[in-house]
Amino acid sequence: MNKWSRYVQSPRFLEISRKYYFPAPDTYPLIRRYLGVTGEMQILDVGCGTGFFTRLLAEGLSRGKVYGLDIDGEHIAAAREIGRRQGLAGRVEFIQGDALSLPFEDGAFDLVASCTFFNVVKNPRAAMGEMLRVVRDGGVVASLDSMTLGNQTWHRGYYPELPWLARLEELEKKIWRMYQAIYPLAGVAVGLPTSEIPHFFAASGLKKVRVHALGRVFSLSNAILSPEERQEYITALYLDGLEKLNNYLKLPQSKDYLTREEVDEYAGLLMQKRDYLLSEEDENIIWEWYGGANLLTVGDVVKKK
Ligand SMILES: C[S@@+](CC[C@H](N)C(=O)[O-])C[C@H]1O[C@@H](n2cnc3c(N)ncnc32)[C@H](O)[C@@H]1O
Repeated sequence: MNKWSRYVQSPRFLEISRKYYFPAPDTYPLIRRYLGVTGEMQILDVGCGTGFFTRLLAEGLSRGKVYGLDIDGEHIAAAREIGRRQGLAGRVEFIQGDALSLPFEDGAFDLVASCTFFNVVKNPRAAMGEMLRVVRDGGVVASLDSMTLGNQTWHRGYYPELPWLARLEELEKKIWRMYQAIYPLAGVAVGLPTSEIPHFFAASGLKKVRVHALGRVFSLSNAILSPEERQEYITALYLDGLEKLNNYLKLPQSKDYLTREEVDEYAGLLMQKRDYLLSEEDENIIWEWYGGANLLTVGDVVKKK
């Protein structure tokens, strides 16, 4: 079972989470600067998902090209569609393939990058081996990864007493346990924790390994969000919650974890929360929020002659 898009992060979730949970758009030029992205580079984004990071890199190019590669066909289909809609067709190309056997020539790229990929790939060393093979001598390998600091960076919010919210959270915990039991990857890292990535880069032979930290924060109560953005976020998360659960319910073993009544109750409560958030009058008061940082690790490639 290797369906990231079906059981862990759907195309809808990847797009919405990258838009809202990532460092703010003001930092994108900074990310490109740290990576040395210029005019006509050839770039590869490994484990590209729906291509959010691929597009971010492509925005820095005038004539070069960014290839995005992912093993999940559903993500690649979404990536192609979004790239086309955004008029990036000439600058990005998406390929379904395995990072452990990259379909590219040795030394084909100036920069080989990835975003929250080493956290999830089953064999990070083999993936790095392939990334090093396809990057040219003098090129760069980079990885952008998420860091959180647990309860220092998350607050459940100052909701009023809402009995349905407590019940929703109870059911969410139950559902989460089912996800983890059926698809252990859903519990995040089978690959490397972000804190290990700088050492991993150096141990893989990359030179002058450097790290840059980029902060991020998200809350629906944050007045920097427009009403349209609030609505987009609330609706997307609602639909994603339902669709993901439905994907799991198609698996026979789901019956061991949840009754039909609980599923129906959950669907009703999820809708109630969506409607509550959409109609909430004082949207600047709850402050359920979380923050964190993203670590950009960069290393230079020096190949032995
Ligand atoms: C956490 S998602 C990140 C997606 C994207 N980089 C982003 O940040 O929006 C990890 C991605 O790695 C992909 N992946 C995992 N193992 C892979 C492999 N062996 N080859 C290619 N892609 C892989 C998954 O399909 C998934 O889309």
